[in-house]
Amino acid sequence: MSTDFNLKHLLGIRELSADQIVHLLDTAETFRDVSKREIKKVPALRGRTVINLFFEASTRTRTSFEIAAKRLSADAVNISVSTSSVSKGETLLDTARNLQAMSPDCIVIRHSSAGAPYHLARACSAAIVNAGDGAHEHPTQALLDALTIREHKGRLHGLRVAIIGDILHSRVARSNIYLLSKLGASVSVAGPGTLVPAEFAGLIEQGVRLERRIEDAIVDADVVMILRMQRERQTDAFFPSMREYAVHYGLHLNHLSLAAPDAIVMHPGPMNRGVEVSSEVADGGRSLILDQVTNGVAVRMAVLYLLAGAPGITEKPERQDVSDSTLRNGTVKKQRRKRSLREDQ
Ligand code: CP
Repeated sequence: MSTDFNLKHLLGIRELSADQIVHLLDTAETFRDVSKREIKKVPALRGRTVINLFFEASTRTRTSFEIAAKRLSADAVNISVSTSSVSKGETLLDTARNLQAMSPDCIVIRHSSAGAPYHLARACSAAIVNAGDGAHEHPTQALLDALTIREHKGRLHGLRVAIIGDILHSRVARSNIYLLSKLGASVSVAGPGTLVPAEFAGLIEQGVRLERRIEDAIVDADVVMILRMQRERQTDAFFPSMREYAVHYGLHLNHLSLAAPDAIVMHPGPMNRGVEVSSEVADGGRSLILDQVTNGVAVRMAVLYLLAGAPGITEKPERQDVSDSTLRNGTVKKQRRKRSLREDQ
């Protein structure tokens, strides 16, 4: 396992090295077993505070960050926009400064504006985790997708991955393209011309192939990743009707005969059954949609542990108790924490 993991925040996959991604995935693997035990808890983040600040709806991401924090013994606090003072006109920056004044170790933010987590990272000393910012990035989704692929295929390098659907509005597509390209998978994307933007031409250099017909992207694919039509982000009519979209871009069982014989199907959720994916595919034997959700907890445990917990990775002297000599020695504390994690697993 690589030990060269020096990261204060997790803002996007684009700025991570392949080594950092692999380290995150390896760490997530060590946490996967915790969720299978009767007592699903380790003391790794005891005494740490994680704030989940969600300005957009979420089922999977928000719940799994909360579960992840609790399984690491951190104190988890959930704030949603409807119950925060943002609804009374407070700015994001003022909200962040006020939260920082309560000394959290980590703030997980989802926001409809691309770049909001970067804004927080400049204003806060807590570690910031991007849980989805507009159409920009959703790094933990790409990490859990990669963990799921690796679990079932044993590797990422050399795999052919087809990403189908509304690429234009998809932060999941962007984060996955960065991650898969960095780890040596070859990616093809397919969708209507209005939903596969010109900017993706720049990614072709990294080996991304653009297709218009989903059949062309799926041929011989090892992984078929379906994306939702993100109607909440669409300001124009990008397709005549959902019915027509379902006919041309919905994934049906017959499409899977074009893919590799052992191809797997993924969807980040929430899915629109009967639009981008048929129920036969979503509930079929190749679908790993719920495995993705399960792996989301392990990935988020790894992210919180590495950003908010492990000393020597994010040095935050203001948190350290100078009266305790072990806390002055990052290596000793790191070893102790690793040992404690092993003993608890
Ligand atoms: N995949 C995903 O981000 O789902 P939620 O919107 O439910 O968090």
